[in-house]
Amino acid sequence: MNTPISRRDFLKGAGALAAIGALPVSLVELAFANTEENFTFAFISDSHIQHIKGVEFVRNWDRGLIRAVAETNLLTPKPDFIMYGGDLAQLGSKPELDHGAEIMSALHGKVRYMMGEHDYYLDLGKYWEQLFGPQYYSFDHKGVHFVVLNSILTYDDWTHKRWPTAEQRMLEMAGLDNPNGSPFMVGEQQRQWLKNDLQKINKETPIVVFSHSPIQKIYKGWNFWTEDAEEVQALLKPFKKVTVIYGHVHQIQYNQIGNISFHAVMATAWPWPYPSTYAQVEQHLPKLTVPMNRADPFFERDATGWQFINIATGNVDMRYNLYNNARRAVAFNPKTRQPEDTGYQLAENRIPPQVHF
Ligand SMILES: [Fe+2]
Ligand SMILES: [Fe+2]
Repeated sequence: MNTPISRRDFLKGAGALAAIGALPVSLVELAFANTEENFTFAFISDSHIQHIKGVEFVRNWDRGLIRAVAETNLLTPKPDFIMYGGDLAQLGSKPELDHGAEIMSALHGKVRYMMGEHDYYLDLGKYWEQLFGPQYYSFDHKGVHFVVLNSILTYDDWTHKRWPTAEQRMLEMAGLDNPNGSPFMVGEQQRQWLKNDLQKINKETPIVVFSHSPIQKIYKGWNFWTEDAEEVQALLKPFKKVTVIYGHVHQIQYNQIGNISFHAVMATAWPWPYPSTYAQVEQHLPKLTVPMNRADPFFERDATGWQFINIATGNVDMRYNLYNNARRAVAFNPKTRQPEDTGYQLAENRIPPQVHF
């Protein structure tokens, strides 16, 4: 590692309740009153393994995932399980999914998978299911109820009737700012499943939802958006402590909506900048108009690193340890009831948006 980090470093700063996420890996810690019950899990996301031809794949994307796997295997304490956040492949092909699965097979420990749109829109998840299992499911772990959604579905008409080939459908959904794209959604069938799933869960039980796209409406042009976000949030509303952890956006992002805290996990492949409209139009996210440190094209892992997420409080509480970049902390401010990136948002640390966009 270029920037060695230890869990102790994080705990020193974060107090006893740190949860960890990272990019390329995120480690998340649940803390309970009895500290012996605390546990961590790791989260790796958005590797976009890309096939060139034959046995050739884009090297940088391979390297990001290989590094995440290696670093996850070195974590102490060992995470109870590892979640993969979607977009393992770039264009959903067999060689990409196979190659990604092969790199992931070096992980020690239980791995669970979530679907991304880049895995899905070639064959609508058929081969992915053979490799990794169901597209949505839930499980319980040490007193926490975990839900894994497939949040990247869209309208049936777009999926089944619009495109002459599966390849074209995949390409249309893969682009940003593409007027031919279509907004993501969890969909009615899955929302009904979620409703039934949550019915049997005590309202005091902490809920952790994994989704690929954010279950909130951030920026439609780039599909940082889930069309039925409000309906899904409504199903989560009765619970005391809800944490949503998502991939897809390839950037630092966080939010708090009522009882739900939202944490984006960075990508192992590349960082997206913040769309310039973040600074121009009203957004649902508080204070997200802070520009991200831009990627240095000469440093292949710039704007990636580790993030440690504490989900014990039910509010946003994150520490970032970025490769070759300043450390950042995002903490919930009980006065404003919003998460704030206090160090970075200080006027003197803030880089004017025009420098970035
Ligand atoms: Fe992605
Ligand atoms: Fe994605």
